[in-house]
Amino acid sequence: MPSCFKLSSALLLAAMCFLIAEVVSAEQMTTCDSDRFVVHRLNCDYGVINVQQALYGRSSSLVCSDGRPPQQLANTQCERQGTTDELSSRCNGKKTCVVNTDAFRNPDPCDGTFKYLQTNFTCLPAITVVACEESLAHLFCDVGQVISVYGADYGRRDRTTCTYKRPESQIQNVDCLRPTELVASRCNGENSCTVAARNNVFGDPCGGTYKYLEVAYTCVYPETAKTSSSTL
Ligand SMILES: *[C@@H]1O[C@H](CO)[C@@H](O)[C@H](O)[C@H]1NC(C)=O
Repeated sequence: MPSCFKLSSALLLAAMCFLIAEVVSAEQMTTCDSDRFVVHRLNCDYGVINVQQALYGRSSSLVCSDGRPPQQLANTQCERQGTTDELSSRCNGKKTCVVNTDAFRNPDPCDGTFKYLQTNFTCLPAITVVACEESLAHLFCDVGQVISVYGADYGRRDRTTCTYKRPESQIQNVDCLRPTELVASRCNGENSCTVAARNNVFGDPCGGTYKYLEVAYTCVYPETAKTSSSTL
């Protein structure tokens, strides 16, 4: 599995890919673009998103072809560079991820071609924790197991999380995200771990916005991690 958990440490990563290979489900979301406001929404009912591959452009003349003239469908070699990386950093480790296609439109990878955003992803079993700004996130595993962080983000991506009694001005910026390796570096390999959701820990990605720390992790047996890493 080449693109397992970008945000995790290499050792536990190998162990995790190995452990969960049997239980992941393959999902696909395709969103036809237009010049209006278009939303690409990924969701995992169980577990968290792990992006395998994403394409903005066109690689097939059949996808998103309804009512389109042939000349807008003919170029099937159109691919915006870096789309997989961008989707991964925005969505990995989250249960739901919403991306506006206008983030990919400029520069236009193929003028005159009708484009779409397609993401292939899997849902990985995970525990998710949210700590509102100035609170503590507690991560813990059963006795004998250790934490393996899939991804962590300090910022704000929606208008529903951590909003109680907050003025509108502090929750309206939902394009504030700062994926962070810090939680993984502190917590991976530990049985339990506490991280403060604070600007002085993560820096302030968007002043004036009330933020939260969102972490997705799983618990593994340290023996498994060792065994797998020795086969790297
Ligand atoms: C997603 O997977 C399908 C089936 O393997 C493939 O045809 C398609 O090109 C993939 N899409 C992307 C964006 O990689």
